[in-house]
Amino acid sequence: MNILAIGDIFGQCGVEHTSFVLQSLLAEENIDFCIANAENTSGTGITRRDYDELTDAGVDAFTLGNHTFGKKDVLSLFESESNIIRPANYSAAAPGKGSVVLSCKGKKIGLINLMGRVDIGVALDCPFAAADREIEALKEKCDFVVVDFHAEATSEKIAMRYHLDSKASVLFGTHTHVQTADEMVTPSGMGYITDLGMTGAEDSVLGVKKEIILKRFTTGVPQKFEYATGRAKLCGAVFAIDDTTNRCTAVKRINVR
Ligand SMILES: [Fe+2]
Ligand SMILES: [Fe+2]
Repeated sequence: MNILAIGDIFGQCGVEHTSFVLQSLLAEENIDFCIANAENTSGTGITRRDYDELTDAGVDAFTLGNHTFGKKDVLSLFESESNIIRPANYSAAAPGKGSVVLSCKGKKIGLINLMGRVDIGVALDCPFAAADREIEALKEKCDFVVVDFHAEATSEKIAMRYHLDSKASVLFGTHTHVQTADEMVTPSGMGYITDLGMTGAEDSVLGVKKEIILKRFTTGVPQKFEYATGRAKLCGAVFAIDDTTNRCTAVKRINVR
């Protein structure tokens, strides 16, 4: 089975680009299941319209991050849709759930979303303990586990790689909007990449108009964000899962302009 994971889809530009390229990408890479990090589809948060547009484009499951609650539509999406999850280490009292089991080609995929605690500005429970708890809850219900670790620090993500090795079949990072060149399959058969990168406008600073971010850095004065448009890219990775062992055998970085 081939799983495509798409990095933070940013703004209308990212949603439109995904709609434009995804069907041919799914065919070219022989993809069976597509997961997208959708915390930024409306800049901060996701709307019902974004969810519907990306579902029509071919996305099968949605993960989120520090902008989970940026748009109020997410609350009704959590109630009506089973394939959208938020980091499992939010408070247990927060709306939504941190993991789900989804079916594909006769397999049960256990999907978990986690968030880091280094330089990300949200008070959260320990992601390592949350990972253990979710895997324990899922292990009898699924054939293999896929994790989106939404985190800023490369150190925290690499530590999670050691923590989850042999427990998960796929671990990918999101949030930084910059794709890393460290994709690998660990000796136990876990596919890994520190960050998938961003899906959105190339001529931007992490998806935001470059003039605005430059002004912020050069003056120190907060600026209202405007989302960049123009030429876009889709960043992510394809993970090949062996149908017999349920372990990952290959990882391929994706960057579609
Ligand atoms: Fe993001
Ligand atoms: Fe984020």
